Amino acid sequence: MKDGVFALLISLVMVKADVSVLGGDTAVLECKHKTLTEDALIMITWKASWLHNSHCIYSFWKEKNLEFNNCSSRMGINSTSFRIYNAKVTDEGTYACELITIYGTFINHIILQVFVQPSVTLRLNTDRVPECRAHGGNPAANISWIPAAAHSITTDTTMQSDWTWTVTSKYCATNLSRVELTCVVSHPTFLYPQNKSMNVATSGVHYICGLVMPVTVFIFVLGLLFWQI
Ligand SMILES: *[C@@H]1O[C@H](CO)[C@@H](O)[C@H](O)[C@H]1NC(C)=O
Ligand SMILES: *[C@@H]1O[C@H](CO)[C@@H](O)[C@H](O)[C@H]1NC(C)=O
Ligand SMILES: *[C@@H]1O[C@H](CO)[C@@H](O)[C@H](O)[C@H]1NC(C)=O
Ligand SMILES: *[C@@H]1O[C@H](CO)[C@@H](O)[C@H](O)[C@H]1NC(C)=O
Ligand SMILES: *[C@@H]1O[C@H](CO)[C@@H](O)[C@H](O)[C@H]1NC(C)=O
Repeated sequence: MKDGVFALLISLVMVKADVSVLGGDTAVLECKHKTLTEDALIMITWKASWLHNSHCIYSFWKEKNLEFNNCSSRMGINSTSFRIYNAKVTDEGTYACELITIYGTFINHIILQVFVQPSVTLRLNTDRVPECRAHGGNPAANISWIPAAAHSITTDTTMQSDWTWTVTSKYCATNLSRVELTCVVSHPTFLYPQNKSMNVATSGVHYICGLVMPVTVFIFVLGLLFWQI
């Protein structure tokens, strides 16, 4: 018994790993340990700490056949591995597994990422400005344009109710000489960046984003000033 307690104190092994899974798929998180026979197991505890600050615990004490579990019904345990069915972005976080065995305690920290592929659209928006959108992705997509127009692009990233991201990029060039405008969207779920192209008029194209209001107000104030005089 003394030897057992001693072993417990010296062999606290920590392992870190990353697991990524596509939304909707099953994530299998392995509690890594030295080749262990089932009868060496005393107790196993999985603790999930999600990015949105809540957590759940799955704990099994073998000898007493006691179980504590307040994780989602989509989550379950198979031997020492933790399974998450129909993975969602809200499942992202750190999963810690603590394995208490007759040989000692093993602790694993696994960071789970859930990738969701965004849908890409390119269109002229209601202000007649080319607008490229990568809707509902996780993580947020990267949008760039050809031809590049560093100072004429406004990008907006918003989180959806399901914790995915929608990135909207507007091409606000005031002087566009190219016929074809391409929006290039990169995302970890794309093997190659996705491209969407549209034809725009060759000359006299004036896209103004966020300028319409200040200009209108300025003209109005100017008009008011002249009227006063
Ligand atoms: C699960 O139980 C733990 C410990 O009682 C508690 O801190 C945690 O908030 C609970 N999580 C859920 C999702 O109910
Ligand atoms: C549990 O794991 C075993 C082998 O690791 C596998 O064959 C079995 O299908 C799993 N059970 C479930 C319900 O996933
Ligand atoms: C508009 O673009 C053309 C061709 O790139 C260039 O020659 C011209 O000087 C530009 N005009 C302005 C006002 O930037
Ligand atoms: C977006 O670009 C930035 C910098 O160029 C890079 O750090 C990041 O990983 C990219 N994100 C994606 C989803 O490709
Ligand atoms: C889209 O364009 C980028 C940059 O020009 C290129 O790397 C990528 O392969 C293109 N993707 C497809 C699907 O053609």
